[in-house]
Amino acid sequence: IMAAAATRLISRLTLVTGGGSGIGQAVCQRFASEGASVVVADISQESANETLGRLQGDLRGQSHMAAVVDVSLSFVAAVDVVLSLQTRYFQPPSVCVNAAGITQDDFLLNMEEEQFDRVIQVNLKGSFLVTQAVAQALVACGAPKGSMVTVGSIVGKVGNIGQVNYAASKAGVEGLTRTAAKELSRFGIRCNCVLPGFISTPMTDKVPEKVLNKMKSLVPMGRMGQPAEVADVCAFLASDDSRYITGASVEVTGGLFIG
Ligand SMILES: NC(=O)c1ccc[n+]([C@@H]2O[C@H](COP(=O)([O-])OP(=O)(O)OC[C@H]3O[C@@H](n4cnc5c(N)ncnc54)[C@H](O)[C@@H]3O)[C@@H](O)[C@H]2O)c1
Repeated sequence: IMAAAATRLISRLTLVTGGGSGIGQAVCQRFASEGASVVVADISQESANETLGRLQGDLRGQSHMAAVVDVSLSFVAAVDVVLSLQTRYFQPPSVCVNAAGITQDDFLLNMEEEQFDRVIQVNLKGSFLVTQAVAQALVACGAPKGSMVTVGSIVGKVGNIGQVNYAASKAGVEGLTRTAAKELSRFGIRCNCVLPGFISTPMTDKVPEKVLNKMKSLVPMGRMGQPAEVADVCAFLASDDSRYITGASVEVTGGLFIG
């Protein structure tokens, strides 16, 4: 059941990477329900289209689209997406959520160089490329405000067995976001990071039952989170309700690893 917050994002153009699944998909749905036009960007066309088909679109001026993009590819790929939006909507997105992400778990002692590189490439460099392309477009067109949201992880703060690559990428995303916040404030662009704990998505479906039960027992609230519970925070950070918040990291963890 959707909270009453209603239409905070009316007439906002929003770009959501990783929008085809899990947290990104929930963000797309929440943004659409608040009146935004949503660009569902994902490496998987099928997933992006599936999300697109689920979006509410009956509010004023709403027009959604799916875009196939590999965020890790290159600066050119990220700029291409932003340019194609500007062609269609005559403006760059003023809200960007970087939810595209992958895991390739292994113990430090066994991890292959390629596994390390790939996770950094998608999670960290992908967030850099997309954030940079959107910020450049916003600054170039003189947009009065923008909100960038990155998806880090609580694991970036506390570490996690089997995830040296992932934890490093997510710690990097936080540092990137804080720095972007400092540099972009003077252009009216806010940048914040959400740090989910254990959320039920296709990503965590891969984790063995035994490990999930162990994890659940560590969560003070006693359960995994739902993608919509992360999406609610993203909608807050995207909207003017958070107008004096920038450079923040918001934990959405049910109390896991309270520090
Ligand atoms: N599920 C959790 O418990 C959890 C916890 C903390 C952080 N996160 C982060 O939240 C984000 C979303 O995770 P999720 O659980 O929804 O995972 P998910 O696997 O359900 O969704 C990730 C989406 O990203 C897309 N994607 C992957 N690589 C891409 C690329 N190179 N370019 C564009 N799109 C790409 C996938 O196709 C998929 O649709 C990730 O950044 C993840 O690290 C998840």
